[in-house]
Amino acid sequence: MGQMIAEKLSRKAVQNCEIYVAEKRGTMANEVYLDTNENPYVGPVKFELAVNRYPEPQPSEVIARFAKYVGVDNDEVLATLGGDLAIELLIKAFCEGKKDKLLYCPPTFGMYQVTCDLYEVETVKVPLLSDFSLDVEGIINNLDGVKMVFLCNPNNPTANIMNVVDIERILEATKNRAIVVVDEAYIEFSEAKSFAKRIKEFPHLALVRTLSKAFGLAGVRFGFAVATAPLINVLKRAISPYPLSVPSIAIAEDSLSEAGIAQMLLNRQKLLESKAALVAALKEKPFVETVYPSESNFILVKLQDAKALYEALKSQGIFVRYLSSECLKDCLRISIGLPKEHEQLLKAMTAFYE
Ligand SMILES: Cc1ncc(COP(=O)(O)O)c(C=O)c1O
Repeated sequence: MGQMIAEKLSRKAVQNCEIYVAEKRGTMANEVYLDTNENPYVGPVKFELAVNRYPEPQPSEVIARFAKYVGVDNDEVLATLGGDLAIELLIKAFCEGKKDKLLYCPPTFGMYQVTCDLYEVETVKVPLLSDFSLDVEGIINNLDGVKMVFLCNPNNPTANIMNVVDIERILEATKNRAIVVVDEAYIEFSEAKSFAKRIKEFPHLALVRTLSKAFGLAGVRFGFAVATAPLINVLKRAISPYPLSVPSIAIAEDSLSEAGIAQMLLNRQKLLESKAALVAALKEKPFVETVYPSESNFILVKLQDAKALYEALKSQGIFVRYLSSECLKDCLRISIGLPKEHEQLLKAMTAFYE
C-alpha cells in the first residue's frame, strides 16, 4: 500500500499519462537504427571543461551563433533542452489548463498531445487533408477558445512541407488571439524557407528548432525557441534556472561554428543522396505501394503487411517505425541512415516478401 502513495498523491493528469518507452536497443550485434530520425553522422566533439561551475543559464555564445545561423537577433532565441522542452515551455507558459485549447493537425508529432495531456489542455484536432496539406478552412473555422496552434513543417511522420500561403493565412486568422507555433525540427532537409526571418511580421509566431536532426546531436539534447523578444521573455519566466549542461553547451557551440555548420551541410548532402537512392530502390519493389514525397531525413512508405514486416525487421535488429493511426494504415516511417544500412534493410525486406 505504502508503495502506492506517490501514485495516489500525484495529479490526476499525471496518473493518466503514460511513461515514454523507447525501443530497447543493444540486444543484438550490428543493429540498424532507422526508427527515430537521428543522423548517422556525428558532429565534431572536443572539449576540456570546468564542470564544477554552473553553466550560463542561457549560453550567450551558442545563442549568438544560432541567431546568426537563422538570421534573427540574439534576444529572439531561447536555448532549451531539446526541441521537446521548447514545445513544453510554450504550452506551459501560454495555455491555461482546463480552459484554453490547443489546435494541431494529425497525423503529426506525438509530443503536442502528450504535453497537452500533462497540462490538462484540451486539444482540437483538424486532420491534414488526403495529400497531407493543411485544412486551412477547417483550422480557421475551429479557432474558438484556441490559444495555441501547432504546425509541423516539414511534418513528422508524413515528411511533406506545408504550403507557405496556408501558413500565412493561419497566421493572419490568429492575429491578436492565439500563438502559432511552427515546429521546424527538420527544416534543414527541406526546400522550405524557415519562418525565422518573419517573426517581426508576426509577433504571435514562435518556432521550434533542434540540433538533434541535421546537426546530428540527438544525444546532446539541444533545441531552441525562436520568436520576438517579448514572447521569448514570457518563456524565460517558465524555464528552470540551468536547463543546459556545460558539456552540451560546449558541443553546441562547436557545432554552430563555421566549420560545424559546413560539416552539417556536408552530412545533409550525403543523407539527401542516400535518401534518393533508397527511394528509387523502394519504388522498384513490387511490395511497395507508395513512397510519399519527403522533405525530411525520413520517408513514409505504404506497403503490404507493414506490421508483420516491422516485427520481422525488428527480430533481425533493424529498427523502423510502424505507424498505427487509421489514416496511415500499412505505413512505415524509415529514417535515412548510411548506404550500407539501407542495403541491409532492402535485403531483409526482399527476403520477407519472398
Ligand atoms: C517534429 C519534431 N519536433 C520536435 C522534436 C524534438 O526533438 P528534440 O527534443 O530531440 O530536439 C522531434 C523529435 O523527433 C520531432 O520529430
